[in-house]
Amino acid sequence: MIAVVGCGRVGLPRGLGLAARGQRVLGVDTDVGVREAVAERRLPFQDESAAALLEATVGRTFTMTGDLDRAIEECDTFIIALGTPLNDRLVLEQTALSEVAARLLGRRAAAGSRPPLVIVRSTVVPGSTVGLVRMAERRWGLTPGKEFLISYCPERTLEGASHEIFELPQIIGADDPRSAEAAAGVFRALGVELVHTGIVEAELAKLFNNAHRYVNFALSNEFLMIATTLGAFGHEAIRAANHGYRRGRIPDPGYAAGPCLFKDAFALGQPLAGGDLLLAAWKVNEGLPEYFIQQVERLGPMRNPVVLGLAFKADSDDCRSSLGVKLVELLRLRGCAPAAHDPRVRAAGATDDLEGVLKGASEVFVTVPHREYRTLPWHELTRLVSPGAVIADPWQVWDQGAVVLRLDGPAGLGQPRRTRSQTARVSRAVADQVKSDARRLPFSARSLARSGSSRTLAIALAKAPSSPRSTRSAPSAATSGTEDRARATVGVPQAIASTSGLPKPS
Ligand SMILES: NC(=O)c1ccc[n+]([C@@H]2O[C@H](COP(=O)([O-])OP(=O)(O)OC[C@H]3O[C@@H](n4cnc5c(N)ncnc54)[C@H](O)[C@@H]3O)[C@@H](O)[C@H]2O)c1
Repeated sequence: MIAVVGCGRVGLPRGLGLAARGQRVLGVDTDVGVREAVAERRLPFQDESAAALLEATVGRTFTMTGDLDRAIEECDTFIIALGTPLNDRLVLEQTALSEVAARLLGRRAAAGSRPPLVIVRSTVVPGSTVGLVRMAERRWGLTPGKEFLISYCPERTLEGASHEIFELPQIIGADDPRSAEAAAGVFRALGVELVHTGIVEAELAKLFNNAHRYVNFALSNEFLMIATTLGAFGHEAIRAANHGYRRGRIPDPGYAAGPCLFKDAFALGQPLAGGDLLLAAWKVNEGLPEYFIQQVERLGPMRNPVVLGLAFKADSDDCRSSLGVKLVELLRLRGCAPAAHDPRVRAAGATDDLEGVLKGASEVFVTVPHREYRTLPWHELTRLVSPGAVIADPWQVWDQGAVVLRLDGPAGLGQPRRTRSQTARVSRAVADQVKSDARRLPFSARSLARSGSSRTLAIALAKAPSSPRSTRSAPSAATSGTEDRARATVGVPQAIASTSGLPKPS
C-alpha cells in the first residue's frame, strides 16, 4: 500500500489519482479538519477534478489516518507531500519533512520484503534529498538502493487542475537503478510518460520550471512599467511583439505570486546565496502592488480604495503568498481603509458581494482576473463606482486600454475600450491607420501623425477634437477601430500623468 504523507493541495489529489487507478492509498495528515472533510466526501479546498476523484475512491481504494505509525506498519511506499514554505531566514522550512523522512527511513524492512521506498514530492532546496540519504547512512548505516529506496519525483501540476495528474510527464529522480524502477512502478499506474534522471537533476528540473515562468512574468511586468513610464500601452506593445513571431511568446503582464512561484526562486538560488536574476525577478513581481499604489497616488489622494481579488491566481480559493493580500496591507499602512472582495477566499474584512463593494469605490485595484470580474460588464462597473474613479488593472479584464485609467466624466461614461481582436488588428495595421487617421486630423496634428509611430499618433489624436460619440459612449466592441484606438490610447498618457519607473521592494 502507498502512504501519502501530507494531504494538502498536492498530496490529496495525487493520492486520489493513484487510488483512482487501482492503487491502495492511505492518506496521512495531522490536520483533523482535512480528515473530517474527506470522511464527509468533501474536498477541503477547491479543485473540480480532485473532487470527482474523491467521490470515486474514498472508502474504496483511498482511506485516511492521522497516525504515521499506522502508515509505517501497513505501507511499503511513502510519498512525502508536506508543505515547505519560506521561513523567516528565507530558506524553505523542511524540518517536518526531514523528521517524517527520518522516521520512514529508520524503519527496517521486514525480512524478505522489499525495502521501504520513500518518494519526496515536496519542493525542496536542491541537494536536500541527497541530504536525507546521507542522514540514513550516518545514523543507521543504511545503504541506498539496498536497505532503503529513495527518489525525488516533483509535483508540476497546476494547483486546482488535478486532471494534469494523468497528463504531465513524471520526472523520476533516482541515483540507483532499484529506486528508479520502484518509483517508476508507482507512477506507471497513471499512464503518463516517465522521464528518468538523477535526484538533484529532478529537484532542479522542478525549480527550473517555476523559476523560468517567474522570471518571464517579471520581465513582462518590467516591460509594462517601461511602457507606462513612456506613456505607452505595454499590453499593445507585447501583443505586437508576439504577433506572428514564433520567437516571441512574451507572457501577459500581471501579479505573479502564490505559494510556489513566490518561494521557488529562493529555493533555487540557495546554492548561489541568492541568484541575482532570480532575486531581481522576485523584486519586480513582489513590487507590483507598491508600483500600482504609487501610480494611483499620482492621480490624487486615495479616498475609497477597493481591492478585487485576494486569491493568488484567477478562479482559485488559495490566498497564500497572494499579492492581493499584500496590496490590502500596503494600503492600510498608508492610512487607507481598503475594502476587499473575493468570490472564493473567506478572509476577515473581505466580502463576496461584488456590487456592494464597488458602490462608490474611488480606486479599484484588480489583482486577479477572476471569472466574476470578466463577466461584469464594463458599463455596470462604471455605473457602480464613483465619478472619476481610477481603475488599476494590469490584467486588462475589460480591455479598457490603459493599465491605470481614470474614468473621466460622470459615472457610467467610462472611456471606450478596444476588444482584443480590435487590438490585434490595430497592431497589424498601425502604419496604414496612421495614414488614414492623419487625413481626419486637423492640420496641426496631421504633421505629427505623418512621422508614422503609434505613439505619435496617440499624441496627435489626443490633440484632435473628440466626436460626441467617443466622449459619451460606454465601451463597446461595435465602435470603429480607429475611434476606439484614439480614445483608448489617449487614455494612457492621460491616466499615467507621470511615472516613477521601478517598483520599490517590500
Ligand atoms: N500547491 C501547489 O500547487 C504545489 C505545486 C507543486 C509543488 N508544491 C509543493 O508541494 C508541497 C505541498 O504543497 P501543498 O500546497 O499541498 O501544502 P499544504 O500546506 O497545502 O499541505 C500540507 C499538508 O500536510 C499536512 N501536514 C503538516 N505536517 C504534517 C505531518 N507531520 N504529518 C502529516 N501531515 C502533515 C498539513 O496538515 C497539510 O494538509 C510543497 O513543498 C509545495 O511547495 C505545491
